[in-house]
Amino acid sequence: MAPFQLQSPLDMHLHLREGDLLSLVAPLSAHSFAGAVIMPNLVPPVDNAARLDAYRSAIDAAVGDAAFEPYMTLFFRPYTGDELEAMQSRIIGIKLYPAGVTTNSEAGVRALQEAEPTLGLMQELDIPLLVHGESTGFVMDREAEFMPVYEHLAQTFPRLRIVMEHITTRQAVAFLDRYANVFATVTLHHLLLTLDDVAGGPLAPHLFCKPIAKRPDDRDALLAAALSAHPNLMFGSDSAPHPRHSKECAGCAAGVFTAPIALPMLVELFDKHDALHNLQAFVSGNARRIYRLTPAPKAVSFVKEATVVPSQYGTVVPFGAGRTVAWRLLDAGQPPV
Ligand code: DOR
Ligand code: ZN
Repeated sequence: MAPFQLQSPLDMHLHLREGDLLSLVAPLSAHSFAGAVIMPNLVPPVDNAARLDAYRSAIDAAVGDAAFEPYMTLFFRPYTGDELEAMQSRIIGIKLYPAGVTTNSEAGVRALQEAEPTLGLMQELDIPLLVHGESTGFVMDREAEFMPVYEHLAQTFPRLRIVMEHITTRQAVAFLDRYANVFATVTLHHLLLTLDDVAGGPLAPHLFCKPIAKRPDDRDALLAAALSAHPNLMFGSDSAPHPRHSKECAGCAAGVFTAPIALPMLVELFDKHDALHNLQAFVSGNARRIYRLTPAPKAVSFVKEATVVPSQYGTVVPFGAGRTVAWRLLDAGQPPV
């Protein structure tokens, strides 16, 4: 059987961290993806030119020679037009976190009105807005409760490209058809999991993330949209590594580490649903069109050959550790077996 090939797959939502964790995880993403949108929720956040350039340099150093483009983002705060113009060529967008909703979001937005002048500038400069769309309400309702905010933003700034990050609900899927300027990313784990997998049996800390996995009908709506390569939907892993001791403890950190196995698992999932023909659009084509990107050519090949997910990458436990995946990524230059 001929290998299945993807051209320049892109991860449109990725946490690379800093220091040792960056050195560990950046090469894993660079191995199989042609580029990724890099989240800015560091401590302190990436919200000025010096921090942006230093983080970009650290990523480039960690990636080494691999063909991998880090599409940088800034952490949303009120910015002046001069600041935005000065940094525009170095970023793909600006990520807005409501204050306190997830890891390192304390410096996020407390009142949307205070954000609006900057959002207006972003619209004029055509800088996309990426949003962690959760309220501070009941955990299962947070994304659905945020929908009126998306509606307000889409109507108030009709020329602003708005990306609903890591959507988890059928409400968000339905919202994709309502506004031409609203797009979304979805993770691999939200295409596979429901809350039952996280907390229905023994607590599964490595599946705990924000937003939390929801109900079966939500998961099914996300999966249908991904398998059909909905034109406004892009793959974004939200791969968010935390060291094992921060996951297997009281006060478990939120985040699922999927980057190294995301593509073989997506191939397996799309193959299982006879939708492999839509995977290229879902992991690259839609993002190229929405963000107007031209990634460097990078062909990534997969063979249908069972392979076991490692139990750990360094200090981090990956999604599906120990599980058998039906497809295997071929290393660059490695001939198909
Ligand atoms: O589960 C999550 N982990 N959700 C986020 O929004 C942030 C991320 C992280 O940085 O660990
Ligand atoms: Zn994230």
